[in-house]
Amino acid sequence: MIVLDIGCGPGFFSIEMARMVGESGRVIASDLQEGMLQKVRDKIQGTEFERRIILHKCDENRINLSERLDFVLAFYMVHEVPDQAEFFNEIGSILKPNGRIFIVEPPVHVSKRAFEETIRKAEDAGFIPVERPKVFLSKAVILEKSNN
Ligand SMILES: C[S@@+](CC[C@H](N)C(=O)[O-])C[C@H]1O[C@@H](n2cnc3c(N)ncnc32)[C@H](O)[C@@H]1O
Repeated sequence: MIVLDIGCGPGFFSIEMARMVGESGRVIASDLQEGMLQKVRDKIQGTEFERRIILHKCDENRINLSERLDFVLAFYMVHEVPDQAEFFNEIGSILKPNGRIFIVEPPVHVSKRAFEETIRKAEDAGFIPVERPKVFLSKAVILEKSNN
């Protein structure tokens, strides 16, 4: 699988996903802060994950990837995106059919109403909520790219 950790920060989940995709898989760890990407670079240097994790600097309003993705993780980042509608449109354009995005948002910064609004914007961009997993103290949803 080729997966994207968008807003990867220091790469905690990028490394765990690199374990999961195995030697033939790839994780794109993307963040708008070069300092965060440098932290990931330092962590994986000289390890088996160096080949599996591709570091990518995105812009605040544009991810700018040409790869086709199987899965996207957005952990504690969507509330920081200025234009969520445009964000989901772009994610939809780079996910493979039936590809999924797993969104996890923090409890205090993001109200229930704001989280539901985020899901509505994802639905407008062609995603279907398929699961509401329980994530400790957080709000979480898995959405699938619809084929229509
Ligand atoms: C709270 S941190 C979460 C980091 C990581 N996902 C984790 O859970 O450990 C949010 C990260 O999202 C990044 N970020 C914020 N807005 C972004 C955007 N529009 N595009 C990409 N990354 C963004 C920030 O630079 C920061 O590293």
